[in-house]
Amino acid sequence: MALHVIDHPLVQHKLSIMRDKETSTMKFRELLKEISMLMGYEVTRDMPLMYEEIETPLMKMNAPKIAGKKVVIVPILRAGLGMVDGLMQLIPSARVGHIGLYRDENTCLPVFYYYKMPANKERAVILTDPMLATGGSACDAIARLKADGFKHIRFMCLVAAPHGVRTVMEQHPDVDIYAASLDEGLNEKNYILPGLGDAGDRIFGTK
Ligand code: PRP
Ligand code: URA
Repeated sequence: MALHVIDHPLVQHKLSIMRDKETSTMKFRELLKEISMLMGYEVTRDMPLMYEEIETPLMKMNAPKIAGKKVVIVPILRAGLGMVDGLMQLIPSARVGHIGLYRDENTCLPVFYYYKMPANKERAVILTDPMLATGGSACDAIARLKADGFKHIRFMCLVAAPHGVRTVMEQHPDVDIYAASLDEGLNEKNYILPGLGDAGDRIFGTK
């Protein structure tokens, strides 16, 4: 499928403030919520519509409403949690699943610790994590969702590295990726450059 880079000026402006190392935890969290809401607008762009008769104060009309698949928002813990509130404001009826993964400091491979999803596997999944670096965490999460029976999955991140995008596209060609930026690359510790640092630490103030 495809990589969608959301280059809207508001998203780009807010992301630049988030990247700045002087930005506080409080501001970082607030901006992540705002960007998630703006990105959510694009991530849901192809949601199917159906038409239902309603009556305005003046006449009857066939009015468009969201049809079909219900949505489940699935943050990859911890950092993906920062993107949930913004999306929930757009899609208040969405369910929320959780996948717990952290990247081992030495191997940079994902370590799995938690999985909880709603029962209805027909729901469309929006998987969230601000950082797509090597792609290990996203691929592991997507594989677990597919093994559990979920078929309609899209991945929403803030900053993506080319390596991670390639890996997800190779392993899960059916999954669309939405990002606010395609960055330059990875450093020797597999941190994204220029990136924004450790997203979990910046959201939760753990450094
Ligand atoms: C970060 C980030 C992603 C992962 C990306 O999580 O939030 O989940 O690393 O790296 P990858 O593409 O190379 O797998 P981290 O391991 O720091 O866990 P945390 O969110 O609990 O802090
Ligand atoms: N995880 C992060 O939080 N930041 C990176 O740059 C890479 C992985």
